[in-house]
Amino acid sequence: MEPVEWLGNRLKMIDQSKLPGEELYLTTEDYREVARCIKELRVRGAPTIGVAAAYGITLGAQGIRTENRDEFLTKLSQVVETMASTRPTAVNLFKTIERMEAIAKKGGSIREIKERLLSEAIRIHTEERDSTRQLGEFGAALIPNRATILTHCNAGPLATCGYGTALGVIHFAAEQGKGVSVFADETRPLLQGARLTVWELMRDNIPVTLITDSMAGCLMHQNRIDCVVVGADRIAANGDVANKIGTYMVAVLAKENHVPFYVAAPTSTIDLSLSSGAEIPIEERDPLEVTCLQGVSLAPEGVRVFNPAFDVTSCYYVSAIITEKGVAYPPYRSSLREL
Ligand code: MRU
Repeated sequence: MEPVEWLGNRLKMIDQSKLPGEELYLTTEDYREVARCIKELRVRGAPTIGVAAAYGITLGAQGIRTENRDEFLTKLSQVVETMASTRPTAVNLFKTIERMEAIAKKGGSIREIKERLLSEAIRIHTEERDSTRQLGEFGAALIPNRATILTHCNAGPLATCGYGTALGVIHFAAEQGKGVSVFADETRPLLQGARLTVWELMRDNIPVTLITDSMAGCLMHQNRIDCVVVGADRIAANGDVANKIGTYMVAVLAKENHVPFYVAAPTSTIDLSLSSGAEIPIEERDPLEVTCLQGVSLAPEGVRVFNPAFDVTSCYYVSAIITEKGVAYPPYRSSLREL
């Protein structure tokens, strides 16, 4: 499954908002269209957002028609601003932007800068793809035989351009013959668990059972979950983790019920510049995502709505952080820095 594919001079993206009902592909040469797809969650998941943004900046650069280097760089910074304004929480987006800006500032002719930007975008894509294999193998070692694993949101191939982070761990555990099975939280409000995680696991022939978010605690209390594995959008230097709204609730319940709570994320998702999760910007989204489900209104018109897309789980609840460079254990301030 390739959520994002570079076609030489255009970007092809699968519209994740339409899955699993429809496998719709969007192809564009316009960076603004890439930004719109990220904003509308047609392209989503922290690593995939970073990869799509890299190609988006490449497309933006390719569309700038001037021979004047200063003018080129001014126009490129407008492209970068458009990308940066799409989604605030996933740090992969901002790491991509930093890398692309550094490439642009290296000098050379406009043609050379455009070529280098494309090479960097391809490098970011390859790195994300490759890191999920390594991460998955490290993570699979933590999964017991015949484990039942709970996951929240979607951290699979669609979200990562590779095997997935949480789903990468599950994929490699299954490949090693561990006979694992999964409970997938539906993940309100946009149902990434029900729509995407279940779809990906079924395609991978991994046994999966769909539950509503409110059922996870009861399953843990009944000793029916051996471990939780989730992805992340940003991990602070102390190991606090921002991930899809509802993750915190799962983590607290896991601790209460003595269930290991693992976070699987590439090192591109770790933000050592932030001391703790309190500094992570949390995206708030359109109230319609809460009041409507696929166009059907569920709540009285005019109701006040709070719709944060992510929450922060304190490192206190995190048993280990699985990356492509190895597994970090508490205290995370030193173990993450070492990785
Ligand atoms: O709003 P989304 O769907 O982009 O949120 C995605 C998540 O929260 C994922 O768990 C996270 O990005 C990890 S993806 C490997």
